[in-house]
Amino acid sequence: MSKKKDAASADTATKNSAETTAKPKKSSRKRRYFDQADKLKNVFYDIRGPVSTTAEEMERDGHTILKLNTGNPAIFGFDAPDVIMRDMIAALPTSQGYSTSKGIISARRAIVTRYEMIEDFPHFDIEDVYLGNGVSELISMCTQALLNDGDEILVPSPDYPLWTAASTLAGGTPVHYLCDEEDGWNPSLEDIRSKVTPKTKAIVVINPNNPTGAVYSRETLEGIAAIARENELIVFSDEIYDRVLYDDAQHISMAEVGPDLVTVTFNGLSKAYRVAGYRSGWMVITGPRRLAKGFIEGLDLLAGTRLCSNVPGQHAIQVALGGRQSIYELTSANGRLTKQRDIAVKKLREIPGVSVVEPKGALYCFPKIDTEMYNIHDDERFMLDLLKAEKILMVQGTGFNYPTPDHFRVVTLPWASQLENAIERLGNFLSDYHQN
Ligand SMILES: Cc1ncc(COP(=O)(O)O)c(C=O)c1O
Repeated sequence: MSKKKDAASADTATKNSAETTAKPKKSSRKRRYFDQADKLKNVFYDIRGPVSTTAEEMERDGHTILKLNTGNPAIFGFDAPDVIMRDMIAALPTSQGYSTSKGIISARRAIVTRYEMIEDFPHFDIEDVYLGNGVSELISMCTQALLNDGDEILVPSPDYPLWTAASTLAGGTPVHYLCDEEDGWNPSLEDIRSKVTPKTKAIVVINPNNPTGAVYSRETLEGIAAIARENELIVFSDEIYDRVLYDDAQHISMAEVGPDLVTVTFNGLSKAYRVAGYRSGWMVITGPRRLAKGFIEGLDLLAGTRLCSNVPGQHAIQVALGGRQSIYELTSANGRLTKQRDIAVKKLREIPGVSVVEPKGALYCFPKIDTEMYNIHDDERFMLDLLKAEKILMVQGTGFNYPTPDHFRVVTLPWASQLENAIERLGNFLSDYHQN
């Protein structure tokens, strides 16, 4: 159709050029501009925000940027276990069609079995499992299925910002509860309690936590469960890092401490199995499902409208969950991830005015910076200045919905030598940094 249109206008142009050499008249017609939908106005995702856009422009100009903005294991030389790739390739010929909207049975069965191995995890069946294009898609589905305009959802601060973004986009109001740095970044139960209102419908728990690396104590989790119980809240528990644990840290699922609560537990292959690009995640619903009949019908509807998640990615689940779990080698005392966590903490603590709580899980740490010492009042600008001077891309604390501009996130995925060098460069940069 556009070709036809082009040919027609070329004809007219030839005809007219012979008739007139005068400048074409400016059209008085008012042009229509297309802005983004109003509903996106308060939706932010700074992990791939303006600082990251500047980094991309610098790359186009030939600069090499050390990208510490996303937890993307593959770009730091973490290969997927061979068997996962081999099974996925073998399944390609039979993955051409859509699957059922919840996902293939073998993968959902493997997920049921995975949680049966956790002693106190409440019982559930394959019908309670949904596969998604990563946890990301399932977060969107849950917030869309649950929240009416103005419904409140408790989200940690700092958070993995998709939770705040997806809740806002769904029409809900994210209300941030404080995780307390002085208490190893455990959520403050007092703060959570003070933020519950009659409009609160759900609470999000991210454990192990991105961006702080905290692994919550049983006491904290039981406290959250008690608040959810008293106020009849749904629990959304994002546990994508549950097997990325350091030292003697032990992960406890929210579902274990709240078997009587409607709980959605999220997990996937992006981190522990290092295949973020395969977009393969799952969620399981436990607790008294009869209380969540309408919500579950909403989920079924939304799962149906996206037809199904990527089918080859679904085939990676069964093989990933069975057999040897290679993540435990990476997180052992001498493992690559532990060494990287150690060097990041050590080098950060050497920088004047920087302190950091040692992460016990996940792939990040969330250092604090003395804003008076460096006169930092805009943490996005701090990250931008660092990027331009040192070609290191990181994300400012406010990008994780943290209220004050005195934190930033370091991804601990690069090799120890790379991390050491990057953090030394950060220290050099800070030695004469002073925001005006
Ligand atoms: C806490 C948390 N939840 C969810 C996700 C998204 O995971 P997926 O790749 O499964 O969409 C991430 C990714 O970094 C994350 O850190």
